Amino acid sequence: MIIAPSLLAANLGKLESEIKRITKAGADWIHLDIMDGHFVQNLSFGPDFLKMIKKHTHLPCDVHLMCSKPEVLLPLFLEAGADNITVHAELGERAVDLIKSIHAEKRSAGISINPPTPFAIVEPFLDIVDLLLVMSVNPGYGGQPFVEETLQKIERADQWRRQRGRKFRLEVDGGINFDTVKECARRGADTIVSGTTIFHSACYRRAIERMRRNAVQAAAEAG
Ligand code: DX5
Ligand code: ZN
Repeated sequence: MIIAPSLLAANLGKLESEIKRITKAGADWIHLDIMDGHFVQNLSFGPDFLKMIKKHTHLPCDVHLMCSKPEVLLPLFLEAGADNITVHAELGERAVDLIKSIHAEKRSAGISINPPTPFAIVEPFLDIVDLLLVMSVNPGYGGQPFVEETLQKIERADQWRRQRGRKFRLEVDGGINFDTVKECARRGADTIVSGTTIFHSACYRRAIERMRRNAVQAAAEAG
């Protein structure tokens, strides 16, 4: 079970210490939301920000490109050291070339779908990616409520990979707290992005431990 705190919810006024603190607190990955102000109505971080992060943590950096023209930013984030880069299936078949470019640099490639996007849209990509990110909120901001309807998509994705013996990671992102994480893990989610719940906790270590415990227990109960 991977716990990947989303830096979007960190105290942006003291990022170096937040990165060090979340690393020491037992996070497995760091999730970095890249927003271009066009694909989503927000603007977040650039590639130099990732270079800064890599100076202060050994954790893999999971870069989530919420961008309309990711081909512009992809080389910069690859050069900055992204370990996984996820692009959106809503871009259409352009995403195939992006995934190939990510793999050409020997990095992990993910594909993501937003709540309104049907599972069928992402199916064509699932044989070539290392990770599927099922968005459980409409992207753009942290702190939004979990979209219950996305649970069936998580279940569908887990069934899909089991039936085909595929091993891509199943990641969820948005509105993941100590309760919604159980619902997601029960249905097969194995990579958990959480921003608000973790970064708004008094103790990051306890929050990560509780998030992980809840996810592992729920997954075990589901069998
Ligand atoms: C939303 C982002 C999420 C967000 C985390 O566009 O992709 O990663 O930062 O959301 P919360 O704060 O709900 O965990
Ligand atoms: Zn994200």
